Amino acid sequence: MDIAGGKFVITGGASLIGSHVADHLLAAGAGEVVLLDNFSLGTPEAVAHLAGDARARLVKGDILRVNELFDAFKGAAGVFSIAGFLTLPLSQNPSLGLAVNVEGQVNVFEACRYAGVRKVVFSSSIAAYGEPQGEGLIDETAPANLAGYQPGSMLYSCSKLIGEALCRLYTHKHGIEAVALRYSTVYGERQHYRGVNALAIIESYDRVRAGQPPVLPGDGSEVHDYIHVADVARANVMAMASEHSGVFNVATGVETTVKRIAEIVLDLCDSALQPVYRDDPEAVKATASRSLRLSREKIRAAIGWEPQVSVEDGIARLIGWIREQERGA
Ligand SMILES: NC(=O)c1ccc[n+]([C@@H]2O[C@H](COP(=O)([O-])OP(=O)(O)OC[C@H]3O[C@@H](n4cnc5c(N)ncnc54)[C@H](O)[C@@H]3O)[C@@H](O)[C@H]2O)c1
Repeated sequence: MDIAGGKFVITGGASLIGSHVADHLLAAGAGEVVLLDNFSLGTPEAVAHLAGDARARLVKGDILRVNELFDAFKGAAGVFSIAGFLTLPLSQNPSLGLAVNVEGQVNVFEACRYAGVRKVVFSSSIAAYGEPQGEGLIDETAPANLAGYQPGSMLYSCSKLIGEALCRLYTHKHGIEAVALRYSTVYGERQHYRGVNALAIIESYDRVRAGQPPVLPGDGSEVHDYIHVADVARANVMAMASEHSGVFNVATGVETTVKRIAEIVLDLCDSALQPVYRDDPEAVKATASRSLRLSREKIRAAIGWEPQVSVEDGIARLIGWIREQERGA
C-alpha cells in the first residue's frame, strides 16, 4: 500500500506510540492523518507539535461508540488501532479497560468494514506470550504461558490475544488485511507513567533528578527488552505499507537488566548515586524474568524492519526531551 498521498486513521492518536506513528506517516508523505482519541489517558499536548501541519487532524472520538468512528474512517486506506489500556490502567479500571481493549477493538473492525478500510495495524504486545518458558528464543509460534501471571497482567494478555483473534476473524470473514505487532517495552520522547516496565527508566530519572538513588526490584537482574518508540512507529508504517498480514514481534532482541537501566540514567545525569534494592509487594508486575530472548527474524524477513536505536541512545533522547520540556515550561 502507498503511504504517500493516502488517508490514515490512528485510534489512540494522542498516545505515546500513536503520536510517533503520526510523525512517521507525515514524514512518509501521507495525505491525511486523523488522530482519534477520547483523551481518557493521552492528552492533546502529545500531538500539539502537529498543529501546523494541515494534513493532521485531531478528532475527539471514543472507540466504544462505533458511531463516532464512521466519519473519521471514511476514505481511509488504513487504520492504526492503537487505543488501548495498558496493564496498569487496566488493573485500576478493569471494567473500562477490558471494554476498550475488546469491545473497542470489535468496533474498530466494524467501522473498517463499513467504511471499506483495506488494512488494520493492531498494537499487540509481547504480553501475549506471558512468562517466558526456558531460555530459548521466543518467536511468533511460542504458546502463551499465563500460569503464575498477576491477574492484571493476565487480563491485559488475554485482551491482546482477543485483539489478535479479531484481526484473523475480520481477515477471514471480511477480507480486511490485518497485522498484529507484538511490542516489547516501549519508551521514548513523550513518555508516560502507564507502562509498568518503562517505569524503571522514568522513575529512576525522577529520583536521580531529585537527588535520590534509583530503587530497583530484587537484585536488579530482572531483564526487559526496551524498544524505542521511533522504532515501533517505523514498524507500524512499514507494516501498513507492506503486503503482509499476521503476527510479528517488534523487539530489539536485546535483554537489558533494570540495573543497567539505572546505570545509564545515572551516567546521563552525571550522578555518583548507587541504586538501592527494595521490593514493593503491592507493585503491578508484568513479565519479570532473568531471560527474555525475543526473535525479530520474522519481521526482518517479511517486512525488512530492524531496530535502529540502542537503549543507551534511546534513554539519552528521552532525557533530552524531558529537559527540553522543562526549559520550555
Ligand atoms: N507502551 C508500551 O510499552 C506498549 C507495549 C506493548 C503494547 N502496547 C500497546 O500499544 C498501544 C499504545 O500504547 P501507549 O504506551 O502509546 O499507550 P497510551 O496509554 O499512551 O495510549 C493509549 C491511548 O488510547 C486512548 N484511549 C483509551 N481509551 C480510548 C477510547 N475508548 N477511545 C479512544 N481513545 C482511547 C488514550 O486516551 C490514550 O491516548 C496500547 O494499545 C498498548 O496496549 C504498548
